[in-house]
Amino acid sequence: QLADPTVDLPTLLASPLLPPARSTLPLPTALYGAGRANSAGRDPHIAAHRLPLLAALDAWRHRGHARPADASLAEADAAMRALARFQPSWNATPLDHRCAVLQRAADQLEARLDEFCARLVHEGGKTLGDAVAEVREAIDFCRYYAEQASTRLAPQELPGPTGERNTLRLHGRGVFVCISPWNFPLAIFAGQVVAALVAGNTVAAKPAEQTPAVAAAFVALLQDAGLPEQALTLLPGPGETVGAALVGHPACGGVCFTGSTAVARAIHRTLADRPGAIVPLIAETGGLNAMVVDSSALPEQVVDAVVQSAFRSAGQRCSALRLLCVHEEVADKLLEMLAGAMAELRLGDPRDAASSWAVDVGPVIDAEAHAHLSAHVERLDASARRIARTALPATCATTHIAPVAYEIAGLEAMREEVFGPVLHVLRWTGPVDALVDGINAMGYGLTLGVHSRIDGRAQRIADRARVGNVYVNRNMIGAVVGVQPFGGEGQSGTGPKAGGPHYLYRFCSEQTLTVNT
Ligand code: SER
Repeated sequence: QLADPTVDLPTLLASPLLPPARSTLPLPTALYGAGRANSAGRDPHIAAHRLPLLAALDAWRHRGHARPADASLAEADAAMRALARFQPSWNATPLDHRCAVLQRAADQLEARLDEFCARLVHEGGKTLGDAVAEVREAIDFCRYYAEQASTRLAPQELPGPTGERNTLRLHGRGVFVCISPWNFPLAIFAGQVVAALVAGNTVAAKPAEQTPAVAAAFVALLQDAGLPEQALTLLPGPGETVGAALVGHPACGGVCFTGSTAVARAIHRTLADRPGAIVPLIAETGGLNAMVVDSSALPEQVVDAVVQSAFRSAGQRCSALRLLCVHEEVADKLLEMLAGAMAELRLGDPRDAASSWAVDVGPVIDAEAHAHLSAHVERLDASARRIARTALPATCATTHIAPVAYEIAGLEAMREEVFGPVLHVLRWTGPVDALVDGINAMGYGLTLGVHSRIDGRAQRIADRARVGNVYVNRNMIGAVVGVQPFGGEGQSGTGPKAGGPHYLYRFCSEQTLTVNT
């Protein structure tokens, strides 16, 4: 019944499966944060919006999206110089004015939610549920950073001796280079860019090669919202050429990057060798995210959380579950239930308006990702026990990977992040501390799930784990802006938390002004 889009709104609203409101913010995302609505049909807010969404989806299917041209290296150089020239004026623009641009951008995104959802489905292969959640997240980033900036970035008077005035002032660092990924081509793009802008930087934004059109649409929207054209330049193109030129440019005053650990390291090396200023890097990279399930956990809750965390968005989230560690005592029962749940997942092409409503798992981003994932699945087929694999309907696109789970013998089988719907399962016994130490030793530190009803155990695991986000007795994806600040440590990033209260400071320089009056 819950998957049936014909169910009326009051029935859906009365459903016990409604995700609880997690946000205390007056933001529309509140109901999406729990990440429990696995399909558009189960989500009452999307259900209420069904007709306009489907109409937009259909319109964009026929219209297609114009891909912005790649920037040349000469254009990248000219853009960096122009952004550097304009930055002092943008920085001098009153903070209230900069915040107002973000609020107006949020208003416009709300008004154009259907259009942006359709863009995300068509360009990024998102399911409808994921697309709505992503537009909401982008809106939240705009509103949250505007609210945070208005208080946190205002000048602060400090105490001092009589006859002396001390003021702490924050200002933009210069030109920020923002490099964003294809898996959240709107939300992460927008989050990086508006954080850098509101702090007083001008921005060179390089979107992922796979998804430049939705980024271009957001840039145009920001300009409609009052952002001066000279404050932000979109520079699409390959990371190896355009991205490298931006990061290595003498005008680059900071880099905000979300993507792979290897590329973050390369950026770090480039910045380290830069003559002149020491340029900061904000990096949010991948994870080998684990979930620890002990014998006291509630099986239905675990299975629901695993399916959401490992397979929603076709596993293409940096927060996604990669390694499920189940206690030996409950493993057989849980894995049997998991296989049953995986059999119920509906695979399909969300770009097809006729069926998009009922798709849980869409395609992976492109043929290259498909080939990489297929090779990994083949290796696992030869070396591990397959627990379950969702059947792939004949109608699915060539870039679908069927959700699949394998039992592995030990943590040594987990070497690198595999960015798709492939779950590795490990049975564990013995002290949980040893298991957490093993997870820490893999070197990543983004998300960790814990399922336990034993008093104090989840807290103990959280205390020992070196990760940025710990989720207890729920899924481990879909961090809500301002509610679950998101970002990891170790090989998972340099630490700043997107959607958190300290994020904007990373985009600023500080000046202490002492005046002898
Ligand atoms: N912020 C996303 C999430 O929490 C991952 O990129 O799922």
